Amino acid sequence: MSETHIPVLRNEILIFLQPNPNGLYVDGTIGLGGHSICILKKSHPSGRLIGIDMDAEALEVAKNRLHSFKNRLRLIHGNFAELQRLLNTCGISKVDGVLLDLGVSSLQLDTPERGFSFQNMGSLDMRMDMRLSTSASQIVNQSTSEKLIQIFKEYGEERYAKQIAQQIVDVRKNTTIGTTTQLAEIVERVYSYKVKYTKDSKKKQSRDNRIHPATRVFQALRIEVNSELQNLSQGLDAAISVLKSGGHLCVISFHSLEDRIVKQHFRQWAKTCICPPKTPVCICKHEKLLDVVTSKPVIPSQDEIDANPRARSAKLRVATRV
Ligand SMILES: C[S@@+](CC[C@H](N)C(=O)[O-])C[C@H]1O[C@@H](n2cnc3c(N)ncnc32)[C@H](O)[C@@H]1O
Repeated sequence: MSETHIPVLRNEILIFLQPNPNGLYVDGTIGLGGHSICILKKSHPSGRLIGIDMDAEALEVAKNRLHSFKNRLRLIHGNFAELQRLLNTCGISKVDGVLLDLGVSSLQLDTPERGFSFQNMGSLDMRMDMRLSTSASQIVNQSTSEKLIQIFKEYGEERYAKQIAQQIVDVRKNTTIGTTTQLAEIVERVYSYKVKYTKDSKKKQSRDNRIHPATRVFQALRIEVNSELQNLSQGLDAAISVLKSGGHLCVISFHSLEDRIVKQHFRQWAKTCICPPKTPVCICKHEKLLDVVTSKPVIPSQDEIDANPRARSAKLRVATRV
């Protein structure tokens, strides 16, 4: 397990986060601990780290992998959306740096029973935190067609949202859609029908061929099950509020919906005034909280992508608390 997981943009994170022996850092998505190990090594001998994850299984793996750093490490099972409260429970109010490496871990993707991937048969679950009450299967089997369309469109930017939702509704009249492969087959059927019988342009079809047709539907369900976009907005606000002046916030996102939220938050918090244009005197009392360090997102090198194809869509944005 530990050998298969390569932390994305590892060197860049160390350059921007600047871990040092006097520092206290938060890894809000510790996962299998790949980035945390690097931060703890770089801040040797006395830098401390709080590692948070929604996934209890990931925390167990991280605990074992990071055993030799246990005196400088504290692990918390929780949601980074609640970062401020989680730190307060440990008696901490301010930290020197926060890292959020969004999305799913290799452990989650590669464990079929967790239901994150359509590559292997598994139960359609997708909960990062098993304490969450609603699984992907419940959403697929119980949501109205309108709700399914909205999820696939909003969170997957899926072109055939309506047709896929209709197929789901038809199939579930006769059987429960309980596995990843059942859902993937439904999506594949819609795509192969579209390709065979409609006039969709060759260009659109070749764009679709680059990724498996079920990719967007799986992404959309995962985002819905785990409230990923709401968590991200709240987590960014929480991270800004716990950073010391001069502390760095590094966020790695993996799709445009996440990256847009990060970019917009950074822009908003980097402004000194948010009054409407042409307002003669500033009345907004908006406080500038950040300097944006990366005007454009940092992306992995081709070498990194060759070594770790899962890094291909990663985008890193960094801001410093003023
Ligand atoms: C891409 S992995 C992180 C990998 C990690 N950086 C490493 O090097 O091993 C993302 C992790 O974030 C966790 N996660 C996602 N959203 C979360 C949230 N809102 N709060 C806490 N953990 C979250 C997932 O459970 C997953 O383990």
